[in-house]
Amino acid sequence: MYKGLIDHYKEFLPVNDNTPALTLHEGNTPLIHLDTLSQELGIDLFAKYEGLNPTGSFKDRGMVMAVAKAIEEGSKCVICASTGNTSAAAAAYAARAGIQSLVVIPKGKVAAGKLAQAYMYGAKIIEIDGNFDEALQAVRDISETTDVALVNSVNPYRLEGQKTAAFEVCDQLGDAPDILAIPVGNAGNISAYWKGFKEYNAKKGTKLPKMFGFEAEGAAAIVQGAPIAKPETIATAIRIGNPASWALAEAARDESQGIIDSVTDEEILDAYRQIAAKEGVFAEPGSAASIAGVIKSVQNGKIAAGSRVVAVLTGNGLKDPDTAVNASTVDLISLPNDEDKIRAYIESVL
Ligand code: F0G
Repeated sequence: MYKGLIDHYKEFLPVNDNTPALTLHEGNTPLIHLDTLSQELGIDLFAKYEGLNPTGSFKDRGMVMAVAKAIEEGSKCVICASTGNTSAAAAAYAARAGIQSLVVIPKGKVAAGKLAQAYMYGAKIIEIDGNFDEALQAVRDISETTDVALVNSVNPYRLEGQKTAAFEVCDQLGDAPDILAIPVGNAGNISAYWKGFKEYNAKKGTKLPKMFGFEAEGAAAIVQGAPIAKPETIATAIRIGNPASWALAEAARDESQGIIDSVTDEEILDAYRQIAAKEGVFAEPGSAASIAGVIKSVQNGKIAAGSRVVAVLTGNGLKDPDTAVNASTVDLISLPNDEDKIRAYIESVL
């Protein structure tokens, strides 16, 4: 029986006899071949659907590890800044482990589903009139002088847990893909995947993919080469102007001979609709940045025809129902409660 990441990949993780066997059975997410988009783009495209983790995002991989280590080290409380998914994961694993979580979020900029999760898992939620970068600075400072364990991705155990997604991709495909496309926000995940691919390469001889990271254009600090004081994008998950793992992300890009590029909100929304409507895969807008980036890179020639590409869909579309409803181009048909009228409408569209 699959019992979660710490159990499944323990030989690759910093676990010992004192590390609690914390699990919500995270990981083991599907790698879905995107048939229609593959055909349209002339590549072999897969989605690593991280939205099927227990709290609906890839954050569970890092959080199970970070919370387990916090408990091993005697912590009674974890803290994080978040655009929403990290806070949901921190709150869930803290609840599971029976400790307190504290989350600091940018007011008005967290998707409804993510906020609902933090409430339900029992986090203490602090919203500030500031952005993610400012919230992260505050919790980093506070955790230095206060007895709380910081579980943002500057905590090295987060990347250890998250690197297991790269192992799964290799296990599922039989090898690494040519290209790994991934959204970039605080830049932890691209760094974690690259670490995972390098470790599997060293231990199992799988190849090394090119890492293709994609920031939202209004929050593209790495692409522009300077922090952005007031990042803006519809993809609130990656609305980050000063990524904490900036240097690691650049190393992943350079060592793998990949790229870090940006995609516009329009391109993100277009990809967001396409993966749902053409493939039946609903991911949140921030996740769709990876697909938007793949489409852009095929068009500008950075992805060659026939390439095998894995795009990471980092979070579930259900996290952000408001953007889905607003971005939808589908008309709702409102009819009287009358079977004849319903039949007449249906016959008119067949
Ligand atoms: N996709 C989603 C859905 C995210 O929630 C995040 C980050 C990313 C991509 C980017 O990953 O930061 O490792 O480069 N969300 C964080 C949060 C910042 O607080 O939930 P990254």
